[in-house]
Amino acid sequence: MSTLAVNRAQYEAQAVPLDRIDVSDPKRFQDDTVWPYFERLRKEDPVHFCRDGMFGPYWSITKYRDIMAVDTNHKAFSSEAGGIIIVDRNVGERFPNFIAMDPPKHDEQRKTVSPIVAPANLANLEGLIRSRVCTILDSLPRQESFNWVDKVSIELTTQMLATLFDFPFEDRRLLTYWSDVATTFPQAGQPIDTWEKRDAILAECLAYFTRLWNERINKAPGSDLISMLAHSPATRNMQPREFLGNLILLIVGGNDTTRNSITGGLWFMNQNPDQLQKLRNNPALIPSAVSEIIRYQTPLAHMRRTAVQDAIVGGKRIREGDKVVMWYISGNRDEEVIENANSFIIDRKNPRQHLSFGFGIHRCVGNRLAEMQLRILWEEILRRELDVKVTGEPVRVPSNFVHGYSSLSVRISA
Ligand code: HEM
Repeated sequence: MSTLAVNRAQYEAQAVPLDRIDVSDPKRFQDDTVWPYFERLRKEDPVHFCRDGMFGPYWSITKYRDIMAVDTNHKAFSSEAGGIIIVDRNVGERFPNFIAMDPPKHDEQRKTVSPIVAPANLANLEGLIRSRVCTILDSLPRQESFNWVDKVSIELTTQMLATLFDFPFEDRRLLTYWSDVATTFPQAGQPIDTWEKRDAILAECLAYFTRLWNERINKAPGSDLISMLAHSPATRNMQPREFLGNLILLIVGGNDTTRNSITGGLWFMNQNPDQLQKLRNNPALIPSAVSEIIRYQTPLAHMRRTAVQDAIVGGKRIREGDKVVMWYISGNRDEEVIENANSFIIDRKNPRQHLSFGFGIHRCVGNRLAEMQLRILWEEILRRELDVKVTGEPVRVPSNFVHGYSSLSVRISA
């Protein structure tokens, strides 16, 4: 972003009356101008009510400790009552899945898929991930610009996801496509401009996976996600919409988030050459750098809850039925909890102290897998002494939910 755009955003964020601030506008995330709005809310009104938001009235929770208080209180703040994103859809239009369920059903379904990321399985996957990282890095063009998002971030995460689902490898880019479609909010002028179009594409996803389900249900239980879902008593009788809902959860969970951390990491290292040098001098810092990348990126900007009883948060009374948005992206920049929160520092004292994976019963299932992928990637980049230079500003996606990039132009010197 140019200095002019930064100054303008700062001026506008101060000039707008407090009660008119609406941080949910996807354009602010696309042009990266949302930061001064969050900064003002954290200072002046950390639990803020927006009456006329683009997606209806909602509370913004912007400070670290208030977010923890909401995230860990699932009895008062339901994921099921209104879903987990700021955009409302009627119950009949939603695809049920366990991130948008409350106990006990949430707990049973979560237990079904958790073994995929058990420590023993992660240890099994490490060698495979490393060999894929090596192949991808060794095949990158030299001395010419290319899109890091496409050739590295998407490729690596999509290959991983294909393995977790035991999905036909040659069709793996379909997973990327469905993931992008699933996280698209239909908007005029965009390729997907209606919910109907979006849902028709997701019906193709369902048909494809139903074929795989039918093959696996008649075989002995396997260790891939589809087989786990097909054989577990908690999930084997799911209706098609619920099956699709859980597929979308696992596709988006395992794909967009890690993808955007891979891209963000490269961008931050290029913006902070002193930190990259620190890492080169001491590769033992890789695990802590990975956590810092995930904090600084915050790949999911928010999670939404709906109050199912009156509750007090940060001194404000939230009423039953209210929409409550936990802005992880803001809590991760809360100076009261994280020192120099706006700086990218790879050797922090408590690097895993961040909100990017959430807290409480919905805390990210795949957090260790995501960290492992990033760790291996940086180990192999450093081992090769790859000098990857960013050659332009990243292009960000217009979303207040998936905080990410559609492209990052880079060049590797010989
Ligand atoms: C849940 C972030 C990687 C699968 C979540 C939540 C967040 C998140 C914020 C919701 C937490 C809450 O509501 O308290 C991330 C980030 C990742 C990542 C930042 C990468 C850097 C992954 C991967 C997988 C995955 C690799 C799958 C292999 C899931 C699932 C849930 C979830 C299934 C739902 C958990 C539940 O509702 O109990 N993730 N995630 N995530 N994530 Fe991740």
